[in-house]
Amino acid sequence: MKAVEIKKGIYWVGAIDWDLRNFHGYLTQRGSTYNAYLVIDEKITLIDTVKAHLASEMIERISSIIDPEKIDYIVSNHVEMDHSGALPEIMKIAKNAKIITSPNGIKGLKAHYKKDWDFEVVNSGDTINIGKRNIQFVLTPMVHWPDNMVSYIEEEKIIFSNDAFGQHIASAERFDDEFAIDIIIEEARKYYANIVLPYGSQVQKALEQIKNYAIDIIAPSHGIIWRSHVNKIIQEYVKWSSNTTDKKAVIVYDTMWGSTKKIAYSIANSLKSAGYKTVMCNLQVNHISDIMTELITSEYVCVGSPTLNNNMLPTVAAFLTYMKGLAPKGRKAIVFGSYGWGGQSIGQLKNFMESAKLDVVHEIKVSYIPSEEDLNKIESDLLEKVK
Ligand code: FEO
Repeated sequence: MKAVEIKKGIYWVGAIDWDLRNFHGYLTQRGSTYNAYLVIDEKITLIDTVKAHLASEMIERISSIIDPEKIDYIVSNHVEMDHSGALPEIMKIAKNAKIITSPNGIKGLKAHYKKDWDFEVVNSGDTINIGKRNIQFVLTPMVHWPDNMVSYIEEEKIIFSNDAFGQHIASAERFDDEFAIDIIIEEARKYYANIVLPYGSQVQKALEQIKNYAIDIIAPSHGIIWRSHVNKIIQEYVKWSSNTTDKKAVIVYDTMWGSTKKIAYSIANSLKSAGYKTVMCNLQVNHISDIMTELITSEYVCVGSPTLNNNMLPTVAAFLTYMKGLAPKGRKAIVFGSYGWGGQSIGQLKNFMESAKLDVVHEIKVSYIPSEEDLNKIESDLLEKVK
């Protein structure tokens, strides 16, 4: 396995996880990569590593350029094990390497690996000289863990952004002009919605810190490297981190006998009439991580459940729990459902949405099966409210 040169003397030496389909609950239909980068200079520097089970793939790629024993520095931008998991293996070979990490990075790495490696702690604005180049560090706590930082080489205009700007895509292609850009953006959106969304204000701080950097290449720790669409992905991050939405509604529901589904379609008709793009997400066939990809750009989040044993359906509760953890802000909510006698699910949906800080603007509750007349009224009432 060979390294891929991304700029003169700088190589991608990561690993491709073609088989990955689940990343702690996030469905990764396209697999992923763990990107590590090798900088050849007076001090040989490795930036991040890969998941433990793919350590040999990374070491083989490093060996295609240089003897890994010669590595002087290993920059650990992030402790999470998809990026630090191969540290124990590479440290067995690069015995004299110094690990450069953030103040929380050293705590995390020690807690994970119980090793007394040679560490150097850096803070925002610190720089290390590696010969012709300097590597500058910016701490970006909570994008995605408290330890995160990014590394910037001014001489090359490259930022190694770790989790930020990543996407879960396994591919033989490395660059954003070699792979369908719509797919890369969609996977970046899915990644943001499922991993980064709770940390919007920290993302905005990080964007502010790097805004004066000249950037030719964004080299993230997952997926495709940005070199032809750098401004595009930065603009998307500005949009997503500010919770800016489109004129769009995501309609999420489960159904027992089809009545809640009928209400869902009436809501969609009404919102379509009001000019909204609508996306239907039946929880029986849609994964919650894919629903988040739609939710992140939606002004309306509509959630429906019939009542079963005095409760909302477990599929709906699971989605709401997942959504609440990701803390989308500034969305409007509509709750709905059919019921036989109790009808508690609609109140529960409303309470849950409010506890997740969504603004519940409308409720729809129908006994048993909605008639044509009921559905027409649902559409006209809602249209009146949203137009
Ligand atoms: Fe890709 Fe937070 O690890």
